[in-house]
Amino acid sequence: MLCQLSSSEDPNLLVGSSTSDDAAVYRLNDDLALVLTVDYFTPVVDDPYTFGQIAAANALSDIYAMGAKPLLALNIIGFPIKLLPLEIMVEILKGGADKIKEAGAIVAGGHTIEDNEPKYGLAVTGLIHPGRVIKNAGARPGDVLILTKPLGTGIINTAVKGKLADEPTRQAAVEVMTALNDQAAAVMFSLGVSACTDITGFGLLGHLYEMLSASGVGGRIYLNNIPVLEQVHNLADMGLIPGGAYRNLEYLEEWLRWDEEIDETDRLILSDPQTSGGLLMTVSGKRADEAVSALRAEGVAGVKIGEIIESELPLINVEK
Ligand code: CO
Ligand code: CO
Ligand code: CO
Repeated sequence: MLCQLSSSEDPNLLVGSSTSDDAAVYRLNDDLALVLTVDYFTPVVDDPYTFGQIAAANALSDIYAMGAKPLLALNIIGFPIKLLPLEIMVEILKGGADKIKEAGAIVAGGHTIEDNEPKYGLAVTGLIHPGRVIKNAGARPGDVLILTKPLGTGIINTAVKGKLADEPTRQAAVEVMTALNDQAAAVMFSLGVSACTDITGFGLLGHLYEMLSASGVGGRIYLNNIPVLEQVHNLADMGLIPGGAYRNLEYLEEWLRWDEEIDETDRLILSDPQTSGGLLMTVSGKRADEAVSALRAEGVAGVKIGEIIESELPLINVEK
């Protein structure tokens, strides 16, 4: 009986909420599926235009992580209309619109509410062939893990708020956060990868855990191979670490096996919540070098950070 079907049992809902994937995927016909996601947050930087760009790049990232192309975006904005000049809201929306345009998609509308603090993000709809959806649940033993952006934006944003980050460090984080994952997604599409997610609030370890548990495998990553923005280690040593990093690390504790020489600072960097982070993809061992070269050819800093291993538990082994 149709009425007994919950939405998650609809055969056309190819990806729902059960696998912690980046977006929902709904099959329209044999050739076309819709990809839907929504993301919004409070400002992570002072400049409103830059904040708009970052929020849009971040929202688009979930579409790219599924291997899809963004089509339409709707603005979601909360703004203290009585407290702040309206120009600020206009700048935020302009930053968002410019990023959506850069992605080749269209801002088709949106909704504004009065709010005590500014919030901005977008609901993005993309398109994909139903047979080419890249899910979390596809990683296989022998696959290589590739990460496409350096870590550390959460720590740098915390330092910027405390006026303890220098200008080049702040700039480097802005560059990472405003960069689209479109080229990385294009490489995934042409090369074929087994799984992908983007790195956001749960940090590298949290999103890797989601991928491993959805795929029923384990992982091994190498601290010294993991790209981290300059100054992040120093800032973290000074205690400029967002609360989310501690929460992520605590939440994952039972799934982590650390090399004993890895200190608390490095553990927190790997758990640092990222805004508009890179894609984490798994590629068959045979094609990993080809994938890295293809990413680099597109100007994407793809780096091999570890591999997928057999495990009955979604254990993450972190080596030096
Ligand atoms: Co995501
Ligand atoms: Co998201
Ligand atoms: Co995905």
